[in-house]
Amino acid sequence: MLGTMLSLIDVLPLFSNTAWGQNANLDFLKKHMGATFEKRSQPWQTTINPADVHSGDFLAVSKIRGRWGGFETLEKWVTGAFAGHTAVCLKDEMGNLWVGESGHENEKGEEIIAVVPWDEWWELALKDSSNPQIALLPLHPELRAKFNSTAAWEYARSMSGKPYGYHNMIFSWIDTMADNFPPPLDTHLVVSVMSMWTRMQPAYAANMWNEALNKRLGTEGLDLYEILAEVESREMAFDHLLTIPEQDEWVYSDGKSTTCVAFILAMYKEAGIFGPISNSIQVTEFTIRDAYMLKIFEDNQTRLPSWCNGKDEKLPFCQILGEYRMELPLYNTLEPYANMNEHCPSLPPTYDRPTRC
Ligand SMILES: *[C@@H]1O[C@H](CO)[C@@H](O)[C@H](O)[C@H]1NC(C)=O
Ligand SMILES: *[C@@H]1O[C@H](CO)[C@@H](O)[C@H](O)[C@H]1NC(C)=O
Repeated sequence: MLGTMLSLIDVLPLFSNTAWGQNANLDFLKKHMGATFEKRSQPWQTTINPADVHSGDFLAVSKIRGRWGGFETLEKWVTGAFAGHTAVCLKDEMGNLWVGESGHENEKGEEIIAVVPWDEWWELALKDSSNPQIALLPLHPELRAKFNSTAAWEYARSMSGKPYGYHNMIFSWIDTMADNFPPPLDTHLVVSVMSMWTRMQPAYAANMWNEALNKRLGTEGLDLYEILAEVESREMAFDHLLTIPEQDEWVYSDGKSTTCVAFILAMYKEAGIFGPISNSIQVTEFTIRDAYMLKIFEDNQTRLPSWCNGKDEKLPFCQILGEYRMELPLYNTLEPYANMNEHCPSLPPTYDRPTRC
């Protein structure tokens, strides 16, 4: 299991925006996570009826091609999640459907937090070159009835326009990596991916890890190569640098930000989904897998909307887009509890989690 360490030869093709690149992602996820990628019958896209969708319904997205496909594949592998991106539905008082999303690309190509009309979001999904597979996970009717839409909208509006939480994200899973994989192979992989990404996307790289690595070194403004030189001159191991935990008081140049899933869970907290344990839920401790495992979704298939899933598909949620059947192992199984996910390891390929970790 841990012997199947990755090399750049395994990782590079994941980022290619070609059929070959997409197959590399599917093969990687089959091999390392036991994913199946069963082909669905047509139609691969569903026309939803917005009347059947409610505030708080969760959107799980899985991209399998190109830059975001490759990135999500690595993130899935490290966290055990079978989806790589998330968004949330919101209804306004007029009954119009909106999507709240952290990681929405604006006209300048920056990833920000935004609330956009459903039709606009859906159109972007349909022409997304990363070939997204999308599922709608309806909240359980009891929680839907409790969901405080006013509070959810207030939270969404307060975050709208803020940047996506790159810093949180990269280190939430690098910490996992450093905790769970024997050095030095894992560190080599991290450095390889980082330097490759730096070449491809220098602006993103600066956003994603240079600033966070500088924080860990107590330096400012060094680029990745200068950081590596600094680590060497201090006779420090790079994996040690990676394991220095994120500090809540560190403020990045772009200020307050959240990852896609932390944004949704923070909204759920505001809307009352976690009830009396709200104050003991740390949303930044949750991966996408932790979120879809929560036992907060519809559990009665006969109550799913009629347009949900194709004729012969019996998924417990609604897949609304995609060539391959989405799998979300352990979907809707874990009752929320206080301080959940604060001490959970995540080791491929089974990602076993001790109870109440
Ligand atoms: C819903 O949230 C709003 C805004 O936070 C609050 O004023 C209101 O009392 C809440 N409603 C309920 C039923 O809790
Ligand atoms: C599921 O929902 C249907 C339709 O509302 C209802 O008749 C049935 O009793 C429910 N099943 C369970 C197990 O709750």
